[in-house]
Amino acid sequence: MAKKKTSAPKEQIGDLLHETRKFKPSAAFSKQANAKKAIYAQAKKNPVKFWEKMAGELVWKKKWSKALEWKAPDAKWFVGGKLNVTETCLDQHITGGRKNKAALIWEGEPGEKRTMTYQQLYRDVNKFANVLKSLGIKKGDRVAIYLPMIPELVIAMLSCARIGAVHSVVFGGFSPDSLRDRINDSECKMLITADGAYRRGQILPLKHDADISLQDCPSIENVIIVKRGDFLLRFKEGRDHWYHRLMQDADNYCKPTYMDSEDPLFILYTSGTTGKPKGIVHTCGGYLTGVYTTTKFVFDIKDDDIYWCTADCGWITGHSYITYGPLANGATQVIYEGAPNWPDEDRFWAMVEDYGVTIFYTAPTAIRAFMKWGREHPDKHKLDTLRLLGTVGEPINPEAWIWYNEVIGKKKCPIVDTWWQTETGHIMITPLPGVTPTKPGSATQPFPGIEAKILDENGKEVKQGGGFLAITKPWPGMLRGIWGDKKRFVDTYWSKWNDIYFPGDGAKIDKDKYLWVLGRIDDEVNISGHRISTMEVESTLVAHPDVVEAAIVGVPHEMKGKCLVAFVTLSGDTVPNEKYIQRLKDFVANKIGAIAKPEKIIFTADLPKTRSGKIMRRLLRDIAMGKVLGDTTTLADPDVLSRIKKRYEDD
Ligand code: WT7
Repeated sequence: MAKKKTSAPKEQIGDLLHETRKFKPSAAFSKQANAKKAIYAQAKKNPVKFWEKMAGELVWKKKWSKALEWKAPDAKWFVGGKLNVTETCLDQHITGGRKNKAALIWEGEPGEKRTMTYQQLYRDVNKFANVLKSLGIKKGDRVAIYLPMIPELVIAMLSCARIGAVHSVVFGGFSPDSLRDRINDSECKMLITADGAYRRGQILPLKHDADISLQDCPSIENVIIVKRGDFLLRFKEGRDHWYHRLMQDADNYCKPTYMDSEDPLFILYTSGTTGKPKGIVHTCGGYLTGVYTTTKFVFDIKDDDIYWCTADCGWITGHSYITYGPLANGATQVIYEGAPNWPDEDRFWAMVEDYGVTIFYTAPTAIRAFMKWGREHPDKHKLDTLRLLGTVGEPINPEAWIWYNEVIGKKKCPIVDTWWQTETGHIMITPLPGVTPTKPGSATQPFPGIEAKILDENGKEVKQGGGFLAITKPWPGMLRGIWGDKKRFVDTYWSKWNDIYFPGDGAKIDKDKYLWVLGRIDDEVNISGHRISTMEVESTLVAHPDVVEAAIVGVPHEMKGKCLVAFVTLSGDTVPNEKYIQRLKDFVANKIGAIAKPEKIIFTADLPKTRSGKIMRRLLRDIAMGKVLGDTTTLADPDVLSRIKKRYEDD
């Protein structure tokens, strides 16, 4: 995997390369913005000093003695410093004037509403931290969280942080197998889940699914169940406990456990280029500094803002820009449990109007869905409270950017297109609202204190044109490793060039030094803003008794950005009909999760291979995209391709 030859995905570049429009910040926004132009130059002069100054705005028990210790690929930030991140996110607000300010404004999918002030959130986090302690959870223990988007998810994360336990949140849409693998990889001692969750009016039986996982999770000692509805479940006496029962008797105050700046705060799994997800490890001091600083300047958070990030805490966006960044800034935020089109396609806009949302952060895939559903849905609502819009997760096509700007932002809201990853912990490339002119489709420039460049295969800087995105200096929120796998950490991120971080994205830089991130160049596919490993789906498919061989490729999709096409060879005389295809797709969904479901399955007697037996995915991608075939001379059996191609065209 190290030094693997890779090339930028030309087919993804599309209309980005022809985009020339530029939008200047309005004087009115600039005047009130948290970020001023000088911040770029200040940070550039001495990035470490810039981050030190920002870290100084957090609550520390003991100040650090050294800001950065960098021995690639290992970074230590704020060495010797001690803190508990919940003191920045909660305690300081309780004593500093925000005690009665709304922290979370929650809406359930069926329509329930619940607001928690900072005082109420603080109380529940303290109580639940005591509950965790009473069930034997100690500093350094891993706790798995498998919950819907309800306040208890944020409470559970912060309660772990309060006592120094390491949380591992698993997105509620993941399957029992995926949950099991994640629990076992980091040997979690406890699981926090719910009886169920609402999604598009349906009930997801979370506890039922978790029970399947737990048949094979020897490290789990206790399970805490949040009662979300009135859903049936099996209750295992001794192991299972109701959240609300435990909370009744818990004490209102839990002394924070002080952590070393470099102690782990959480693990979050993301896909990798092999079948096995990677447990990305983030630590306390640097991560909190990064999310605090970026929330302040990129989202321009003020005390009277109502901020809404539509992500789920099962992903990094929810960790950094729901739980930690906004709360560190004392923000008021909306959180929502369900789907954007339930009960109608105007749900988000009804909520924006209802709560007077001022800052709205979502994914390009959602914006494309809004476009498809039609502007009559946002037009039904008063959106004039909005003052800033953001996007994350994948490149945004200029058409969607312009629509977002005009239909949602009414041409008066700056748009921040933020590039970052699970691994980077916080936003890395983004415009600063009120400062940086924007171009639709470009994430513009590195955030102050971040150094990003475009390099070629040999590590030479590309001043203008295409190449690989590279982060050339350490940053506070950088991942500190992959749980239990140092070699994979080095191979995946640090082996392409010397001492330079390789994020796995192709990108280009234009004459104004604007960065255009074009997408993944490895075996990962970004579907609706979430990463899926083609290897993981392939190994899942070949585990099916009928499947002899499978190859998965990612191809452009109108709504999802990318989708998966599977080429499958079946054993014996299985004749695939529509029902069979559906069953095979469901097999993948059940094993991994619905987002990994192939859009299309093509059956073929053989797969095109090189003489050494490697599946030629590039050719399969071309076929799946209906493109002219590339060079086929290295094929062991050239007929295979034309047969597959014909099959695809007949479909
Ligand atoms: C990958 C990271 C960061 C939180 C959500 C996804 C792609 C992300 C952008 C953007 C172009 C983007 C990249 C990256 N990506 N944001 N603004 N423009 N591409 O986190 O699941 O770790 O995925 O998402 O390909 O590597 P993730």
